Amino acid sequence: MKILVVGGGGREHAIIKKLRESPRAEKIYAAPGNGGISRDAECVPISASEVDGIVSFAVREGIDFAVIAPEDPLVRGAVDKLAAAGIPAFGPTADAAILEGSKIFAKNFMKRHGIPTASFAEFSDADTAIAYLERSSFPIVVKADGLAAGKGVIIAEDLDEAKDAVRSMMEDGAFGDSGLRVVIEEYLTGPEVSVLAFCDGEHVFPMVSSMDHKRAHDGDEGPNTGGMGTVAPNPFYTEEVAAECMEKIFRPTVLGMKEEGRPFRGCLYFGLMITENGPYVIEYNCRFGDPETQVVLPLLDCDLLDVMEKAATGTLAEGDVKIKDGCACCVIMAHVGYPGKYESGFEIDIPEDIERDVYVAGGKLEGGKLISGGGRVLGVTAAGGTLAEAVSGAYEKVGRIGFPNSFYRRDIGARALSAEKDS
Ligand code: AMP
Ligand code: GLY
Repeated sequence: MKILVVGGGGREHAIIKKLRESPRAEKIYAAPGNGGISRDAECVPISASEVDGIVSFAVREGIDFAVIAPEDPLVRGAVDKLAAAGIPAFGPTADAAILEGSKIFAKNFMKRHGIPTASFAEFSDADTAIAYLERSSFPIVVKADGLAAGKGVIIAEDLDEAKDAVRSMMEDGAFGDSGLRVVIEEYLTGPEVSVLAFCDGEHVFPMVSSMDHKRAHDGDEGPNTGGMGTVAPNPFYTEEVAAECMEKIFRPTVLGMKEEGRPFRGCLYFGLMITENGPYVIEYNCRFGDPETQVVLPLLDCDLLDVMEKAATGTLAEGDVKIKDGCACCVIMAHVGYPGKYESGFEIDIPEDIERDVYVAGGKLEGGKLISGGGRVLGVTAAGGTLAEAVSGAYEKVGRIGFPNSFYRRDIGARALSAEKDS
């Protein structure tokens, strides 16, 4: 089969490496991919957001199956347009991707279906939002309604910060049209868990749980980033919590979407917070997480292509999604300065024996050499029988990768390891 994977980061590299294990995957293309991915797939220079270009490439090349990884093309209907051109694809249609594309939709959907989430109010003009803030207690959370590349959430400690957030989103256009409407919601506390699940429109099969590390620096200090590392499984996601999530969150979400005529097929990402009152949904994403995928897929014990096709055709059954025992850790290496300003363009030296465990997020090939690009450059994953083994394995490999001007967090997995000890 000829497969096209849309996207070009570490997540897409992990998807491609896993798809390559499938005996039916004869040829894999990536649009646009990156220099690291080009060692595993043929990269074509079409950006992930160029939906029409992707569809015409897929038709021209006779692609048998497409995998749309990032939210932007999903929300803009890439799967619908591919289907109209006769090309089956993994990922939700635009109608279903709205779970990530509009926080106002997602919050009201959860309210309609009794799915636990922070209480909220929605606003489409700044004065009303500010009047509401003046009657609120703090901290409080201000969220842009639409897609904002992971930056549309502001936790405001006091009234001034909250007003600034509302003004920057609704009046100054900090996130373009995405911020014209906002959600203001209750601030929750508790450990966060990511659960990625295959859905076929009716059934939901979660993969192993994971924990992201969003802040740039050790000890959860510094600015928010796209994610500096992950571990799986997440020790806060006990069997009891998992059962409660299935009953109160996962099934009601998938059945609710079906009932509303928006069946969700693809990977649904549940961003959860385990509060005193049980698990709450912090956010839905309509796709695989990055860098969650880099620990979740290495622990998947089945043919990814088979599962994706079954999800796309509504035929997933009990036993199709199998998870390996054991744990995994991914450490992200970024350029110094990320998520602010940074210099890039450095040669990366990856020893051959660990290349299969390295997922390149940003880079290009020049004369056969991999040159760093983007803020986050690569992720290094190790699996192990225990979390401690996975964490030390990942850091051992990181220590063998040389590239100038790089930094990484030294404490990926530390919180998970101490939670394991407490339990
Ligand atoms: P999101 O972009 O929706 O993933 O939000 C980014 C981060 O903001 C989440 O991972 C949480 O750490 C935090 N966050 C979002 N909503 C809330 C909330 N209601 N209470 C506390 N923290 C939140
Ligand atoms: N790691 C968070 C995300 O993919 O949205």
